[in-house]
Amino acid sequence: MNLEELKKQKQQCLEWKNVKPWYDQLQKLFEIKKENLTIGYDDWFSVGQREDLTPKEYEILVQTAKKLIPWRKGPFRLFGLEIDSEWQSNIKYNLIRPHFNLTNKVVADIGCNNGYYMFRMLEDRPKRLIGFDPSPLTMLQFEMVNHFVQSQIEYEKLGVEHLEIYNHKFDFIFMLGVLYHRPDPIGTLKSLARGLNAKGEILIDTFMIDGDEEVALTPKERYSKIPNIYFIPTVNALKNWLDRAGFDEFEVLAITTTTSEEQRKTPWSFDQSLEDFLDPNDKNKTVEGYPAPKRVYMKARKKA
Ligand SMILES: C[S@@+](CC[C@H](N)C(=O)[O-])C[C@H]1O[C@@H](n2cnc3c(N)ncnc32)[C@H](O)[C@@H]1O
Repeated sequence: MNLEELKKQKQQCLEWKNVKPWYDQLQKLFEIKKENLTIGYDDWFSVGQREDLTPKEYEILVQTAKKLIPWRKGPFRLFGLEIDSEWQSNIKYNLIRPHFNLTNKVVADIGCNNGYYMFRMLEDRPKRLIGFDPSPLTMLQFEMVNHFVQSQIEYEKLGVEHLEIYNHKFDFIFMLGVLYHRPDPIGTLKSLARGLNAKGEILIDTFMIDGDEEVALTPKERYSKIPNIYFIPTVNALKNWLDRAGFDEFEVLAITTTTSEEQRKTPWSFDQSLEDFLDPNDKNKTVEGYPAPKRVYMKARKKA
């Protein structure tokens, strides 16, 4: 399928049986006439104040946000409505924030989910900011927030595998929390390399295991109850993947363990969360007996 056909799917999916009710609800959102709405680029990415809305408008806002549950990434505060997502994505964002400057750069966020990080990146005034994610629900969550932010962010309902046929190359690509979902991690990193301009940079994070060996864990079925996790490398194995995919200047930015402060159940994400994924008798293990989730954050540059 060529790029034009793939892009058409973005429109077509709005008619799908499971997606249409979300989209129809989104159409009920009102226009905000008020100029100079306040935007807060803080941990709670926020737009407007409660007093900017009539009670009827506020009610529509609440109904729309609830229709689009689960909100995995956030948090957002829209006109005083606090959407407290499953993940406190501000923790990840604040960790990576010192490691980039996007001013005047062409930037992609691959696996951008509802765009929480991109909304916060706006503060840097990138030249262009494009999110890729194949999920219709997260696309509509993005549309809901962006309806009020009215940013120039573009959202493509595409995957990392489409980067190489995309019509722009990027100076900086983020791909956070996606690599372990890919059955071909080196091929995925090659797609990033092909999507970059000369000397372009990537910032990624992925699950990792401890050890100096150049090996990766391959879960039999699920890892932390997640079905589509394929390879979990040591840091040295990840460096080899990056090298083979055409990157150098590797920089390990951080190694973290996910806590129940970062990932937990909230009224905006009703189903299971971290506490259900770990062995109740040993928090160092997943329910399947694998090492508990640990992440490595890395930056790398496309080889000259
Ligand atoms: C674990 S979430 C990570 C979200 C966010 N980047 C973060 O780090 O918090 C994985 C995201 O990747 C998206 N995704 C799934 N398949 C993808 C693909 N082929 N290409 C890009 N993103 C994909 C999912 O829809 C989801 O939003």
